[in-house]
Amino acid sequence: MGRTRNVALMAFGVCLGFWSGAALAQDDGRDAWLLAPCSSCHGTFADGVKEDGGSEFPDGPSLRRTRLDPEEILMTVRCGRPGTPMPSFDPGAYTEFACHDLPLGPRPETLFGFPPMDDRTILEVVDFLVANFVGKGRVTRDECTRLLGRADLCGEYR
Ligand code: HEC
Repeated sequence: MGRTRNVALMAFGVCLGFWSGAALAQDDGRDAWLLAPCSSCHGTFADGVKEDGGSEFPDGPSLRRTRLDPEEILMTVRCGRPGTPMPSFDPGAYTEFACHDLPLGPRPETLFGFPPMDDRTILEVVDFLVANFVGKGRVTRDECTRLLGRADLCGEYR
């Protein structure tokens, strides 16, 4: 299932990459995920940040349990969610392509605050998210070790 979704997203990504003239990276998206700001709000393993211990970032829901399909996830990342802390990451959102059925126009103000990402990075991040986290159950020590490359940071997982 995960793989099917991933393939669908890659197909979509190839179209998008073609359209934008950007080459799709073939390397795994691990670095892209770890460098992207998503984890500040959604957690390193996309398992959601609960009642944070004083973080300056708003709490984001678990993306492991999202019911969105890969295309909807991609559009959520590109367009953000007006009226919520979920930022918009595509610099052309609202101004160059329509989001949430709104006519083209200025981007809703709540969506600023995070640096935009280029198409390739957005695709890498979303592809990694879909392939590794969406639909997965609890975080395991194995998964943690693979992602962080260090077992000693993963003691809280089993
Ligand atoms: C500043 C905090 C913040 C950052 C940074 C952030 N998000 Fe979010 N995100 C949220 C919040 C809060 C929601 C819930 C919005 C709502 O109430 O509908 C959300 C919702 C989402 C959803 C929809 C989930 C669903 O099931 O409806 C997806 C997908 C998502 N974020 C992906 C990402 C990705 C990928 C990144 C990084 C590129 C990211 N987010 C960065 C706060 C954030």
